[in-house]
Amino acid sequence: MITVNRIGKHLGAEISGVDLSKPLDDDSFAQVARAFFDNEVAFFRNQKITPDQHIAFTQRFGVLEQHVRKESRLDGFPEILVVSNLLDDKGNAIGAQDAGRFWHSDLSYKHEPSMLSALYSVEVPEKAGRVLGDTGFASTTAAYAALPDALKQRLAGLKNVHSYRFYRDKNARAQEAEKARGGRVIQEHAPTEEQLKSVPDVETPVVRTHPVSGRKGLFINEAHTSHLVGMDKAEGDALLAELYAHIVKPEFVYTHTWRPGDLLMWDNCSVQHKATFDYDLPLRRLMYRTTVRGTVPV
Ligand code: OGA
Ligand code: MN
Repeated sequence: MITVNRIGKHLGAEISGVDLSKPLDDDSFAQVARAFFDNEVAFFRNQKITPDQHIAFTQRFGVLEQHVRKESRLDGFPEILVVSNLLDDKGNAIGAQDAGRFWHSDLSYKHEPSMLSALYSVEVPEKAGRVLGDTGFASTTAAYAALPDALKQRLAGLKNVHSYRFYRDKNARAQEAEKARGGRVIQEHAPTEEQLKSVPDVETPVVRTHPVSGRKGLFINEAHTSHLVGMDKAEGDALLAELYAHIVKPEFVYTHTWRPGDLLMWDNCSVQHKATFDYDLPLRRLMYRTTVRGTVPV
């Protein structure tokens, strides 16, 4: 028996009664998919899955992406991105150490941005009985619905540019600033020109209609949006800042505290997320992520 328990006000649900190490029959899969799209973020606790099983489950939603960061893919499983602070024997990062520094949706800089991502937690940092490394999720559909009509009208037809180059520059600058403050030091693999060229800038509507639910949401984010199209830069940046602050108001946010064995999925068309870097080695965090290709935003 599959049960669904909504947790946040606008998003986030726990799905119980599912063992993801086994193939789901069509009916169970349909229930899971419906619960996922209704709740925008859904998680399953106490899962014991191999990379193959993780891939097999998420593949039922569509084509899996292979991340631009080749160096952070799991050996033998190019569809799995390793998100971790762990180092190998030579002291090299085994995965992306800085995923989710800013609020973002995954791969929004692609022509066909990600539909959903599924993150499986293997190791979770804990200190004095407190779990660290929470992930925040914000519903951009709930945020859009709550905007005043005048602002909705101002946004109609407006476009923004999503840029991987902008993102990597911004991330590298933030990393430098953190290092200068004596904060968390990570290995930043500077992107190669080839990697940057494989993801040219894209333009999308600011207000996107969800391909499954039909709900409207804000498809802008502080990590990847370089600017609003056809608007004076200062005016555009001020409008973006106002919208970013609105999206992450507490009522639109669900914060997940991880346990080992969680498989959590979020809808990249309607949700933004952000990591919390409040842990460091020797506290270990190891996650595996798959991401499903979506459709061109309209
Ligand atoms: C990701 C991501 C945040 C986190 O895996 O896409 O942004 O808390 N992760 O690990
Ligand atoms: Mn992410």
